[in-house]
Amino acid sequence: MRVSIQDLKAYKARGERFSMLTAYDYATACILDAAGIPVLLVGDSLGMVALGHETTLPVTLDDIIHHCQAVVRGARNALIVADLPFLTYQVSPEEALRNAGRLIQEGGAQTVKLEGGRELANTVERIVTAGIPVMGHLGLTPQSVNQLGGFRVQAKTVETIRELVSDAHALEAAGAYALVLECIPTAAAKIVTDSVSIPTIGIGAGPECDAQVQIITDLLHLIPGRIPKHARAYMEVGDLIRQAVEQYDADVRGGIFPTEKESFALPKGVDLEALNVTLDEG
Ligand code: KIV
Repeated sequence: MRVSIQDLKAYKARGERFSMLTAYDYATACILDAAGIPVLLVGDSLGMVALGHETTLPVTLDDIIHHCQAVVRGARNALIVADLPFLTYQVSPEEALRNAGRLIQEGGAQTVKLEGGRELANTVERIVTAGIPVMGHLGLTPQSVNQLGGFRVQAKTVETIRELVSDAHALEAAGAYALVLECIPTAAAKIVTDSVSIPTIGIGAGPECDAQVQIITDLLHLIPGRIPKHARAYMEVGDLIRQAVEQYDADVRGGIFPTEKESFALPKGVDLEALNVTLDEG
């Protein structure tokens, strides 16, 4: 059975930590689902780590829908969360609801995620009231990178921690079922985690959150040179892929690939002489 938002709330109530990972394609979704990862996020980080943009700002709703469909086809058990990209929910609650609806109807996600605090409480309430679960996202909100002056750690003062807590309360009251906390000090994440009844999911927010999320390409170190401070490369998959394709290239050039094993023979009894092909026929 697919993981539900009620399961996530129950994990928090029981004090059970859980993990979330981003996924952007079918093959990866199959692997993460088989590994038992309970929540997959089709994040707008796909703009940076799958499409090569410098920020998440160019990502469109159609991009997320396209990738979400592939992830949904690969993951039968995980809860699928789809990101609402930049400017698809900030203009009005009605537009946000329509766009959230497309992620559910066309993308096949079960829930959506959006970035922002108190100012979006009405929007969150509008979407949730229509039956679409919403995950909030506080702290470093990458869609506001230009406002924040870069991808920087947030909530470093008493005043900004106070605002963070008040945003978390507003989102919970508006009906959000979980909160991503990105790039904030551990102490700030603990205060938020202790003060809400919905699960907090940290990325660069220390070990005190109820759950953790990582970007899959960081966990596997697929992109040379990209390891954010908050990430850990669990395996050098980028190196493994490079070694594999270098070997393939050498084998093709050396006539070692393919062999009979990777080739198809004609059925017995097919007489090629009957073709009557001469070499200079072209
Ligand atoms: O887009 C994304 O991958 C995210 C995670 C960093 C939480 O929002």
